[in-house]
Amino acid sequence: MKRLLPITLCCLATALALVAVIITDSQRKGGVAEIIEQRRSIRAYKETPVEREKLQRLAELGVAAPSAMNRQEWEIRIVDSKEWIDSATKAYLAAVEGTGKADYMLRDPNFKNIFRNAPALIFVAAPEGEFAGVNIGLLGENIMLAAVEMELGTCCLGSVQGIFAEPALADHLKSLGFSEGYRLSYALAVGYPDEQPEAKPRDLSKIKFVE
Ligand SMILES: Cc1cc2nc3c(=O)[nH]c(=O)nc-3n(C[C@H](O)[C@H](O)[C@H](O)COP(=O)(O)O)c2cc1C
Repeated sequence: MKRLLPITLCCLATALALVAVIITDSQRKGGVAEIIEQRRSIRAYKETPVEREKLQRLAELGVAAPSAMNRQEWEIRIVDSKEWIDSATKAYLAAVEGTGKADYMLRDPNFKNIFRNAPALIFVAAPEGEFAGVNIGLLGENIMLAAVEMELGTCCLGSVQGIFAEPALADHLKSLGFSEGYRLSYALAVGYPDEQPEAKPRDLSKIKFVE
C-alpha cells in the first residue's frame, strides 16, 4: 500500500500536466469561432518575408473550399517577389499620377506598396459564371481564417481590379498567367501583422428569424 501511493501520485501528476497542456494548447489556437473573431483586415506588415510553405499551405486550404458542382473554377497565383511588387507599384503610381486614384494609398504615412504594404499576395481569378463570386469568396475566407492560425495577417483587395485595368500594368497582369477566360477578381495581401486594429462593429439587425 505504501509503495502504491507514490505511483498513484505520480500518475495523477502526469495526468494533470497532460490536461494542462491540452487546455493551454486549445486556448492558444482557439476554435473556429475564436479564429473568426480574431480576423481583421491588416494594412501594416513587418518586413519579415512569409515562408513559402505557409503560402502554399494557405492556397491549398483555399481550394479545400466547397464549389458549385465541385467545378473548382478558380485559379490562384502567389507573388512574394519584392521586385515584382515594387515594379507594379512604380508603374501604377506613374500611370495614375495627378488623377487622385492613388491618394487613399499615399495618405498612409507608412506606405510601402499599392497592395496595402503586404510582402506577399495571393491573386484569385475565376471565369464569369453564376456562382463564381460565391466559390472564390468561400476560398478567400478559408485562406484568411487559416492565416490567423499561422499568426499571419491578411486583407482582401478588390482594388486590384482597378489597378490591373491600367494599361501600364498589362505586363504584370500577363505575368500572373491566368488561363483564357479567367478574370482577376481580388488579391489577398498576406504578411506578419504590424498593427492590431480593433474589430469593426457589425450590424446585427441584418439578421432576422422568419416566423
Ligand atoms: C470583396 C472585398 C474587397 C475589399 N477590397 C479592399 C481594398 O481594395 N482595400 C482595402 O484596404 N480593403 C479592402 N477590403 C477589406 C474591407 O475594407 C474590410 O473587410 C472591412 O472594412 C471590414 O473590416 P475587417 O475585415 O477588419 O473586419 C475588401 C474586402 C472585401 C470583402
